Amino acid sequence: MFAHPLTDTAELRPLEPWQARDFADFIARTRDHLAPWLPWATSITDEEGARAWLRTYADRQAADDGRICGIWLDGTLVGGILFRVFAAPAGVCEIGVWIAPEAQGRGLVHRAARHFIRWAFETRGMHRVEWRAFTTNTRSAATAERLGMTREGTLREAFPYLGTRHDIAVWSLLARDWKP
Ligand SMILES: CC(C)(COP(=O)(O)OP(=O)(O)OC[C@H]1O[C@@H](n2cnc3c(N)ncnc32)[C@H](O)[C@@H]1OP(=O)(O)O)[C@@H](O)C(=O)NCCC(=O)NCCS
Repeated sequence: MFAHPLTDTAELRPLEPWQARDFADFIARTRDHLAPWLPWATSITDEEGARAWLRTYADRQAADDGRICGIWLDGTLVGGILFRVFAAPAGVCEIGVWIAPEAQGRGLVHRAARHFIRWAFETRGMHRVEWRAFTTNTRSAATAERLGMTREGTLREAFPYLGTRHDIAVWSLLARDWKP
Protein backbone atom coordinates (compact mmCIF):
# COMPACT_ATOMS: atom_id res chain seq x y z
CA MET A 1 0.00 0.00 0.00
CA PHE A 2 2.90 2.33 0.79
CA ALA A 3 6.18 2.12 -1.12
CA HIS A 4 9.35 4.19 -1.32
CA PRO A 5 11.31 3.82 -4.58
CA LEU A 6 15.02 2.94 -4.16
CA THR A 7 15.79 2.66 -7.90
CA ASP A 8 13.67 2.25 -11.06
CA THR A 9 13.18 -1.42 -10.22
CA ALA A 10 13.56 -1.64 -6.44
CA GLU A 11 11.37 -0.38 -3.63
CA LEU A 12 11.11 -0.31 0.14
CA ARG A 13 7.78 -1.29 1.70
CA PRO A 14 6.49 -2.29 5.14
CA LEU A 15 7.01 -6.00 5.84
CA GLU A 16 3.97 -7.27 7.73
CA PRO A 17 2.69 -10.54 9.25
CA TRP A 18 0.46 -11.23 6.22
CA GLN A 19 3.67 -11.53 4.14
CA ALA A 20 4.99 -14.37 6.34
CA ARG A 21 4.90 -16.90 3.49
CA ASP A 22 7.13 -14.67 1.28
CA PHE A 23 9.44 -13.92 4.19
CA ALA A 24 9.80 -17.60 5.14
CA ASP A 25 10.55 -18.47 1.48
CA PHE A 26 13.11 -15.65 1.35
CA ILE A 27 14.87 -16.94 4.49
CA ALA A 28 14.86 -20.52 3.21
CA ARG A 29 16.61 -19.57 -0.04
CA THR A 30 19.12 -17.14 1.53
CA ARG A 31 19.77 -18.88 4.88
CA ASP A 32 23.38 -19.84 4.08
CA HIS A 33 24.15 -16.21 3.21
CA LEU A 34 22.36 -14.61 6.20
CA ALA A 35 22.71 -17.12 9.04
CA PRO A 36 26.41 -16.50 9.84
CA TRP A 37 25.48 -12.93 10.80
CA LEU A 38 21.79 -12.87 11.73
CA PRO A 39 20.41 -15.16 14.47
CA TRP A 40 16.82 -14.90 13.22
CA ALA A 41 17.90 -16.47 9.92
CA THR A 42 18.77 -19.57 11.94
CA SER A 43 15.78 -19.60 14.28
CA ILE A 44 12.99 -18.87 11.76
CA THR A 45 12.43 -22.10 9.86
CA ASP A 46 8.81 -21.95 8.67
CA GLU A 47 5.87 -19.66 7.87
CA GLU A 48 4.53 -19.75 11.45
CA GLY A 49 7.90 -18.69 12.81
CA ALA A 50 8.13 -15.92 10.23
CA ARG A 51 4.62 -14.70 11.13
CA ALA A 52 5.38 -14.68 14.86
CA TRP A 53 8.58 -12.68 14.31
CA LEU A 54 6.89 -10.18 11.99
CA ARG A 55 4.08 -9.86 14.54
CA THR A 56 6.59 -8.81 17.22
CA TYR A 57 7.70 -6.03 14.87
CA ALA A 58 4.08 -5.05 14.11
CA ASP A 59 3.47 -4.82 17.87
CA ARG A 60 6.70 -2.92 18.40
CA GLN A 61 5.82 -0.48 15.60
CA ALA A 62 2.44 0.13 17.28
CA ALA A 63 4.34 0.86 20.50
CA ASP A 64 6.81 3.13 18.61
CA ASP A 65 9.56 0.77 19.69
CA GLY A 66 10.77 -0.77 16.40
CA ARG A 67 9.93 -1.09 12.71
CA ILE A 68 10.68 -3.40 9.77
CA CYS A 69 10.53 -2.94 5.99
CA GLY A 70 11.30 -5.22 3.07
CA ILE A 71 13.24 -4.48 -0.12
CA TRP A 72 11.63 -5.73 -3.34
CA LEU A 73 13.54 -5.95 -6.62
CA ASP A 74 11.46 -6.51 -9.76
CA GLY A 75 8.59 -7.55 -7.49
CA THR A 76 10.57 -10.16 -5.52
CA LEU A 77 11.40 -9.82 -1.83
CA VAL A 78 15.22 -9.64 -1.75
CA GLY A 79 16.08 -7.98 1.55
CA GLY A 80 15.08 -5.80 4.43
CA ILE A 81 15.90 -3.27 7.07
CA LEU A 82 14.71 -2.71 10.61
CA PHE A 83 15.00 -0.57 13.65
CA ARG A 84 16.11 -3.30 16.06
CA VAL A 85 16.14 -0.62 18.72
CA PHE A 86 13.99 2.50 18.60
CA ALA A 87 14.15 4.35 21.92
CA ALA A 88 12.42 7.63 21.07
CA PRO A 89 12.59 9.13 24.58
CA ALA A 90 16.39 8.65 24.60
CA GLY A 91 16.74 9.65 20.93
CA VAL A 92 18.69 6.46 20.16
CA CYS A 93 17.96 3.81 17.55
CA GLU A 94 19.81 0.95 15.87
CA ILE A 95 19.49 -0.22 12.27
CA GLY A 96 19.86 -3.79 11.01
CA VAL A 97 20.02 -4.82 7.32
CA TRP A 98 20.17 -7.80 4.96
CA ILE A 99 20.03 -8.47 1.21
CA ALA A 100 20.04 -11.58 -0.98
CA PRO A 101 23.29 -12.42 -2.81
CA GLU A 102 21.81 -11.62 -6.24
CA ALA A 103 20.78 -8.12 -5.10
CA GLN A 104 24.00 -7.34 -3.22
CA GLY A 105 26.47 -4.75 -4.50
CA ARG A 106 23.88 -2.38 -6.05
CA GLY A 107 23.57 0.12 -3.21
CA LEU A 108 20.01 -0.97 -2.34
CA VAL A 109 20.80 -1.35 1.37
CA HIS A 110 22.64 1.97 1.31
CA ARG A 111 19.60 3.73 -0.12
CA ALA A 112 17.19 1.98 2.26
CA ALA A 113 19.40 2.84 5.25
CA ARG A 114 19.60 6.48 4.20
CA HIS A 115 15.80 6.55 4.06
CA PHE A 116 15.56 5.09 7.59
CA ILE A 117 18.24 7.47 8.90
CA ARG A 118 16.57 10.48 7.28
CA TRP A 119 13.24 9.52 8.87
CA ALA A 120 14.91 9.01 12.27
CA PHE A 121 16.71 12.36 12.27
CA GLU A 122 14.44 14.62 10.25
CA THR A 123 10.96 13.30 11.04
CA ARG A 124 11.46 11.81 14.51
CA GLY A 125 14.15 14.09 15.91
CA MET A 126 16.39 11.19 16.95
CA HIS A 127 19.91 12.05 18.11
CA ARG A 128 21.92 8.89 17.42
CA VAL A 129 21.63 6.02 14.93
CA GLU A 130 23.67 2.92 15.78
CA TRP A 131 24.94 0.04 13.68
CA ARG A 132 26.33 -3.17 15.21
CA ALA A 133 28.03 -6.01 13.40
CA PHE A 134 30.37 -8.91 14.07
CA THR A 135 33.90 -7.57 13.65
CA THR A 136 34.38 -10.24 10.96
CA ASN A 137 31.49 -8.89 8.84
CA THR A 138 33.47 -6.83 6.34
CA ARG A 139 30.53 -6.12 4.00
CA SER A 140 28.48 -4.74 6.87
CA ALA A 141 31.41 -2.58 7.98
CA ALA A 142 31.78 -1.22 4.42
CA THR A 143 28.08 -0.32 4.36
CA ALA A 144 28.32 1.48 7.73
CA GLU A 145 31.33 3.45 6.46
CA ARG A 146 29.57 4.37 3.20
CA LEU A 147 26.74 5.77 5.35
CA GLY A 148 29.23 8.10 7.05
CA MET A 149 29.15 6.26 10.37
CA THR A 150 31.96 6.42 12.91
CA ARG A 151 33.33 3.21 14.35
CA GLU A 152 33.34 3.64 18.11
CA GLY A 153 34.87 0.42 19.31
CA THR A 154 34.45 -3.28 19.98
CA LEU A 155 32.29 -5.08 22.51
CA ARG A 156 34.65 -7.98 23.13
CA GLU A 157 33.16 -11.50 23.05
CA ALA A 158 29.78 -9.89 23.70
CA PHE A 159 27.54 -12.09 21.57
CA PRO A 160 27.35 -15.88 21.92
CA TYR A 161 26.09 -17.42 18.68
CA LEU A 162 26.58 -20.82 17.03
CA GLY A 163 29.09 -21.93 19.64
CA THR A 164 31.34 -18.85 19.51
CA ARG A 165 31.41 -15.64 21.51
CA HIS A 166 31.63 -12.94 18.81
CA ASP A 167 33.25 -9.52 19.04
CA ILE A 168 30.75 -6.81 18.11
CA ALA A 169 31.80 -3.59 16.36
CA VAL A 170 29.68 -0.55 17.21
CA TRP A 171 29.18 2.29 14.75
CA SER A 172 27.10 5.42 15.02
CA LEU A 173 25.93 8.51 13.23
CA LEU A 174 24.87 11.58 15.22
CA ALA A 175 22.21 13.98 14.00
CA ARG A 176 24.76 16.81 13.71
CA ASP A 177 26.90 14.68 11.36
CA TRP A 178 24.01 13.71 9.05
CA LYS A 179 24.45 14.90 5.48
CA PRO A 180 20.97 14.91 3.85
C1 LIG B 1 25.85 -6.42 4.71
C2 LIG B 1 25.02 -6.36 3.42
C3 LIG B 1 23.59 -5.91 3.76
C4 LIG B 1 25.67 -5.35 2.47
O1 LIG B 1 25.01 -5.38 1.22
P1 LIG B 1 25.53 -4.47 0.01
O2 LIG B 1 24.67 -4.69 -1.15
O3 LIG B 1 27.01 -4.66 -0.14
O4 LIG B 1 25.30 -3.00 0.62
P2 LIG B 1 25.22 -1.56 -0.04
O5 LIG B 1 23.82 -1.20 -0.33
O6 LIG B 1 25.99 -0.66 0.88
O7 LIG B 1 25.95 -1.71 -1.46
C5 LIG B 1 27.32 -1.44 -1.62
C6 LIG B 1 27.80 -1.94 -2.94
O8 LIG B 1 26.95 -1.44 -3.97
C7 LIG B 1 27.71 -0.57 -4.82
N1 LIG B 1 26.83 0.56 -5.19
C8 LIG B 1 26.27 0.70 -6.42
N2 LIG B 1 25.52 1.82 -6.43
C9 LIG B 1 25.61 2.36 -5.19
C10 LIG B 1 25.06 3.54 -4.61
N3 LIG B 1 24.27 4.35 -5.28
N4 LIG B 1 25.32 3.80 -3.32
C11 LIG B 1 26.12 2.99 -2.59
N5 LIG B 1 26.69 1.87 -3.11
C12 LIG B 1 26.43 1.57 -4.41
C13 LIG B 1 28.92 -0.17 -4.01
O9 LIG B 1 30.01 0.19 -4.85
C14 LIG B 1 29.20 -1.46 -3.28
O10 LIG B 1 29.75 -2.38 -4.18
P3 LIG B 1 30.83 -3.52 -3.79
O11 LIG B 1 30.03 -4.61 -3.14
O12 LIG B 1 31.38 -3.96 -5.10
O13 LIG B 1 31.80 -2.90 -2.86
C15 LIG B 1 24.98 -7.75 2.70
O14 LIG B 1 26.29 -8.16 2.43
C16 LIG B 1 24.27 -8.84 3.50
O15 LIG B 1 23.05 -8.93 3.49
N6 LIG B 1 25.04 -9.68 4.20
C17 LIG B 1 24.45 -10.79 4.97
C18 LIG B 1 23.61 -10.29 6.14
C19 LIG B 1 24.36 -9.30 6.99
O16 LIG B 1 25.55 -9.44 7.22
N7 LIG B 1 23.65 -8.26 7.49
C20 LIG B 1 24.27 -7.24 8.34
C21 LIG B 1 24.35 -7.72 9.74
S1 LIG B 1 25.17 -6.49 10.76
